Amino acid sequence: MTVDDIKKPVKEEMALFEKKFKSAMKSDVALLDKITHYIIKRKGKQLRPLFVFLSAKMIAPVEEGTYIAASLIELLHTATLVHDDVVDDASERRGFLSINALWKNKIAVLVGDFLLSQGLLLTTSKNRIDLLHLVSKAVKAMSEGELLQMEKSRKMDITEEVYYKIIKQKTASLVAACCATGACSVTKNKELIANMEKVGIYVGMAFQIKDDIFDYGFSNEIGKPTGIDIKERKLTLPLIYVMNKVEKKQKKLIINTIKKDQQDSKKINEIISMVINEGGIHYAEKKMHYYKDLALKQLDYLPSSPSKEAFIGLINYSINRKK
Ligand code: IPE
Ligand code: IPE
Ligand code: MG
Ligand code: MG
Repeated sequence: MTVDDIKKPVKEEMALFEKKFKSAMKSDVALLDKITHYIIKRKGKQLRPLFVFLSAKMIAPVEEGTYIAASLIELLHTATLVHDDVVDDASERRGFLSINALWKNKIAVLVGDFLLSQGLLLTTSKNRIDLLHLVSKAVKAMSEGELLQMEKSRKMDITEEVYYKIIKQKTASLVAACCATGACSVTKNKELIANMEKVGIYVGMAFQIKDDIFDYGFSNEIGKPTGIDIKERKLTLPLIYVMNKVEKKQKKLIINTIKKDQQDSKKINEIISMVINEGGIHYAEKKMHYYKDLALKQLDYLPSSPSKEAFIGLINYSINRKK
């Protein structure tokens, strides 16, 4: 299934969403307007709004709340990425220069804050505390996940279990919010909403494992720099697996290289080759499929429909995507 196939059942909804999203980005401050324009022109894959609309439409026709949820989530996601590039000191995003690279860190931090508050206002002005509650839970988890990741990269003692906790918090929580708010915008059935939240957790974890595998690939294909996780001492699944598998002496060598020589591209490339040769990517792919299957299984009880088919396509796309 291509992205166009996946979008088909919610094509009109996505088009209307884009209009609403654009207007939610507007500001009278010229500099801000220039930057949000730049962001809109280089939009991402918009997978999160797709998760929102398909989650809703699998259950019942889309309502106003569905648009509010999709806009809120894409605003927060965009804010997170703008902030993330400051935190990671990244110069590229979506194949173009990042906001911090073009306008400096201080401006990027404030633009992120602006997007975040626009999201908050969008829900409070429409009295949708229910949606805001689901999304706020995710935003809180995202910050916790990022900080846990930082703590672990300082000590370099991350286990596979902690890795799953991190990706669940920093990425899957927002995908869970997409699925839960999508459902919440069209039904009051608590069990159904909770089930959709679970779907989002599983597919979100598979999505992040895919992203971590990308870091071992080629930058020009995915629109952001690669090989930077190791340089940032961020230990992800392929490397965690290999570190637990090789002899103690070799593990020490890896840790020492990452601690002392993380700017030495040659040494970092050696670690990357080792991860690939020792089956780290293969193992991560296996786990990614495991979580994808859990997500798919969680959908069994829902009646079949074009939206459900597309949703299944979206789950598969999350792990088969090329960027
Ligand atoms: C990037 O998310 C952040 C992660 C969770 C890895 P996406 O890959 O969905 O970003 P865009 O919105 O398509 O650029
Ligand atoms: C992106 O995290 C932001 C969140 C998931 C909260 P990363 O730093 O791991 O992702 P990229 O590689 O910059 O997109
Ligand atoms: Mg980051
Ligand atoms: Mg980053």
